[in-house]
Amino acid sequence: MEYSIELRDVNKSFGGRRAIMDASLRIPAGKITGFVGPEGSGKTTLMRIMCGLERPDSGAGQCCGIDIFAKPEQVRSLTGDMSQNISLVEQLTVKENLLFLAKSRSVPYAQKRVDELITELNVEHLCNTLALHLNSDCKLRVSLAASILHAPKVLILDEPTAGVTLAARQAFWQALERLSGAGMTILVSTHYSDEAERCHHLVRMVNGRLLSCGPAQTIVHSLALTTFAIRGPDLLSLKCQFSGIKEVEQTVIFSNTLYVTGKQCDGLLSAVRMLPVRYQIEHTSSAIAASVAGLATHKVSA
Ligand SMILES: Nc1ncnc2c1ncn2[C@@H]1O[C@H](COP(=O)(O)OP(=O)(O)OP(=O)(O)O)[C@@H](O)[C@H]1O
Ligand SMILES: [Mg+2]
Repeated sequence: MEYSIELRDVNKSFGGRRAIMDASLRIPAGKITGFVGPEGSGKTTLMRIMCGLERPDSGAGQCCGIDIFAKPEQVRSLTGDMSQNISLVEQLTVKENLLFLAKSRSVPYAQKRVDELITELNVEHLCNTLALHLNSDCKLRVSLAASILHAPKVLILDEPTAGVTLAARQAFWQALERLSGAGMTILVSTHYSDEAERCHHLVRMVNGRLLSCGPAQTIVHSLALTTFAIRGPDLLSLKCQFSGIKEVEQTVIFSNTLYVTGKQCDGLLSAVRMLPVRYQIEHTSSAIAASVAGLATHKVSA
């Protein structure tokens, strides 16, 4: 397998607090790698180090064959970053914004590149809309376009889909799959198990340490967790009820469904079995959903 990023014994502290500890890992080229783990576990910091956006205190590493420590600017020029909210000029249309950004970043053949991306990301219908009038779903698409104007080899997405609809999330992930299919290496942090499910590779982190890193399927098989999808009334109070069970690792409401993931145990199984008949229960086959929840050492809320 070809790797586009490699880190060896990387450490990073903020004000004496260790955010990344002895991280050594490789990221496969042209794949989507998901970073998962509880809040504050170091996902953002690690992704930023990989792209030359954050300077580590010690260690070694390369991104696309370039030394991350010695030439961070060069690494940055090969990467795209959607994490900072791309600032669009509200009184300009989407197309004008993209052109403006392309020119300000000296993208060669800016007009042609913008047209290309508009088609590739299916945003033709938004071209003439003022940025001011974009809702979060549309802004997500446009931000993606803006972050890849310079055709980066590596793209980092830090919880990109927070606050958008399910339909927009799905369309966004389809776009990511097309981009990775075309050779782009994508690093994405997420708290959504369905998104982790779509990654090819997973990096699990807890408290600044790598818990595991490898093909998503391999990671999933190493974790014996189970997920129930529950539909019915008053999912919020049901969520609280399940959160109270010790072995439950994650409860997430998504759309009209509550996902409860935990270790196979009598407590969880009997709680699920005791639910009144008005609840529709499905034991999901998605092992990845379970694995992502398993990363969390705390209970993630929806
Ligand atoms: N610029 C910074 N200044 C000070 N501390 C920081 C900075 N960036 C990160 N940290 C600290 O480093 C640790 C790791 O943070 P990081 O943001 O990388 O975690 P994360 O896994 O991305 O969390 P989340 O899921 O909340 O986004 C945390 O303790 C955080 O408070
Ligand atoms: Mg983060």
